Amino acid sequence: NLPKSVRIVEVGPRDGLQNEPKRIETAQKLELIRRLAESGLKTVEATAFVSPKWVPQMSDHQEIMKHLMAAIEGSNADISFPALVPNLKGMEAAVETGVREVAIFASASEAFSKKNINCSIEESLDRFKPVLSCAKSNGIKVRGYVSCVIGCPYEGRVSEESVAKLSKQLIDLGCYEISLGDTIGVGSPGSVSRMIRRVQQDVQTDKLAVHFHDTYGQALANILTSIQLGVAVVDSSVAGLGGCPYAKGATGNVATEDVLYMLEDLNVETGVDLGQVLQAGQYICKELGKENGSRAARALLTK
Ligand code: HMG
Ligand code: MG
Repeated sequence: NLPKSVRIVEVGPRDGLQNEPKRIETAQKLELIRRLAESGLKTVEATAFVSPKWVPQMSDHQEIMKHLMAAIEGSNADISFPALVPNLKGMEAAVETGVREVAIFASASEAFSKKNINCSIEESLDRFKPVLSCAKSNGIKVRGYVSCVIGCPYEGRVSEESVAKLSKQLIDLGCYEISLGDTIGVGSPGSVSRMIRRVQQDVQTDKLAVHFHDTYGQALANILTSIQLGVAVVDSSVAGLGGCPYAKGATGNVATEDVLYMLEDLNVETGVDLGQVLQAGQYICKELGKENGSRAARALLTK
């Protein structure tokens, strides 16, 4: 009972790069985004309008977004470049660039909320209200992330109840979609299916996305579980780049190449060309001097 097609939300340029210690040039990020966009991806999360003191790697957000918006201006290109915004200050900076889509991010665990955005869950919801009204008056789409949907690096297990509650609150605030993030990658199909089934009681399945990190090697199994439950939007990161600055030990997101390899075999359409994503991954790994984190990429490239 799989969806006929799945939309891949590529998060490499943001989630993948935010934690890189070495400064990556804006031009390199833009080249990565250009290659990803050419592969047929319809959503490429491009940057984050967060504090440069907290996440220095995203400090060129203005330049990145201005460039991307200029590149698609006037065209009817069916592609979105969302940016993360944590508060109204970030939202206002994003609006100046002509951004068409943003993502707000809340945590299902109190301790992680404090570490990541320096406020409680309740306070974060209050901060998002003006962000949502600003978005509404500017015709900007808002995606919502819930992080720590299975476990928290500080609090341990996170209840399904709190994930469902927060997801519903973000939908009620005006988010068009909720991305359920297993930020530290501790979930496996048992816990993931319990969590999704609980969230489905409060939020329609066509408003859900999943966001897995591969810390325990469970990400693909978790994605299969999620799509079997009807979820048709999957976040992933080219070459498996990433990690979270406030979640020690968390590895990268599931690799886009690995997800595509699995979905192709399941005859689930994505509209994305695996070969082109592979080349985009090789490009950024070479620039970063890193080994490609995608198992499918490593196998396909040595074939
Ligand atoms: P704060 O220090 O509490 O903020 O940080 P503040 O309001 O007290 O302001 C302090 C300073 O920051 C001020 O500057 C503000 O102007 C400035 P100063 O007067 O000291 O010079 N400031 C900003 N600057 C730029 N952009 C802004 C902004 N806001 C305030 N938007 C804040 C609060 C939310 C800003 C901070 O904690 C922050 O930026 N956090 C972001 C952390 C982050 O990006 N984490 C990674 C993304 S989340 C994630 O990866 C999980 C996800 O992938 C899902 C998953 O994996 O599960 C989404
Ligand atoms: Mg993430």
